[in-house]
Amino acid sequence: MHKRRFIIEPGGTLNGTLRVPGDKSISHRAVMLGSIAEGRTEVSGFLEGDDAMATLAAMRALGVSIEGPQAGRLSIDGVGRYGLRPAPLALDLGNSGTSMRLFSGLLAGQWFGSRLVGDASLMRRPMRRVTDPLGRMGATIHTGPDGTAPLSIEPSTALRGIDYVMPVASAQVKSALLIAGLYAEGRTRVTEPAVSRDHTERMLRAFGADVVVDGPHVSVSGDAPMRGGSVVVPGDISSAAFFLVGASIASGGSVTLTNVGLNPTRTGVIDILRRMGARIHVEAEETDAGEPVGTVSVEPAALRGIDIPPELVPLAIDEFPAVFIAAACATGETRLRGAEELRVKESDRIAVMADGLAALGIQAEPQPDGIRIVGGPIRGGRVAAHGDHRIAMAFAMAGLAADGPITIDGCAEVDTSFPGFVELAHGAGLAICSEEQAG
Ligand code: S3P
Repeated sequence: MHKRRFIIEPGGTLNGTLRVPGDKSISHRAVMLGSIAEGRTEVSGFLEGDDAMATLAAMRALGVSIEGPQAGRLSIDGVGRYGLRPAPLALDLGNSGTSMRLFSGLLAGQWFGSRLVGDASLMRRPMRRVTDPLGRMGATIHTGPDGTAPLSIEPSTALRGIDYVMPVASAQVKSALLIAGLYAEGRTRVTEPAVSRDHTERMLRAFGADVVVDGPHVSVSGDAPMRGGSVVVPGDISSAAFFLVGASIASGGSVTLTNVGLNPTRTGVIDILRRMGARIHVEAEETDAGEPVGTVSVEPAALRGIDIPPELVPLAIDEFPAVFIAAACATGETRLRGAEELRVKESDRIAVMADGLAALGIQAEPQPDGIRIVGGPIRGGRVAAHGDHRIAMAFAMAGLAADGPITIDGCAEVDTSFPGFVELAHGAGLAICSEEQAG
């Protein structure tokens, strides 16, 4: 992949009414579940970012006919649960952990074998968290010696439902097992140690699958037929989060974000920022079914450091890079614990954020399961995003509070979740430019 860096000059603000691209998690699920449902699924608001496009390309390679995307619209001709065909080559899922983990569940139950690969970052990420429980369901999946991809999934004769207590709160693991459960004999029941995003459960139910949610337990059986339908993908709150932080730490201006997904399993970032003193106003819209949506407005505020409540960690898991920038701009200390999962995201987000914050003059002490950040003045400087999209966008927002230019290396992966980020942020007043880098 080509390399890209961002340069942010100081002195910008954020202003205006903005619409962020579609939700990444829901876009993946719309393609996967639409493909194995019966009939046609029409998707609007689909995220045309590299990760969701990797899922789409993989589904096409598995024999599904999908029109689009065109301006966020897809039309999927569902093949039914047993209509997928073997892919001629390995499925390359790029940078996308969600694709690899959810496809593991889906392909574990097929009559044919599959091979899953990805980019250097994805090939380092832990996969036993899905392959172990899938093995208990009767699947045979070979990983590399460290439990990483490439994954070789053998043809399945029969999966059986299991009762699985997940050791970590992970929507990807939960979803992989629920999707595998559609192919299993009996019920598959998953118990979460803490609430994680529930988009899979909602979409399965909307398509008519037999899903039962009972507190921390979710179960599924493959008995009910699944019919596709219409999926309206809301804007991604994880993308909106950069603007929530940016507008909070800027010296002036205000931002209104429209069409933001407000699923309560995703809004932890709003709770955390409000506890820090952010001025965020949420107006939820009426939604009859599916995913809640609304408008979120934010203006600058004097932020203060907090102890982040551990129960909010899974509800804001992707937003911590942005939250750490808010913490750097807050008065006093912010402490995060119970977030060791951040070490196995697209990068080690605790180490990479701590290094970047230190390069900008902020005291940041990494810990095995979190970080301690002492707010203070942000200096200009050079930081490395290590090819992690959310790290790149978080540090871009730090430019709103810095007293000198910030250069961020390793930003090309921003397109995995937020194509058009630079243009949207620049149009709103962030003094950002993006440069191709040699090599
Ligand atoms: C996701 C779940 C989260 C999140 C990821 C998307 C999903 O991962 O970090 O970006 O779509 O299910 P975990 O389930 O591993 O926490």
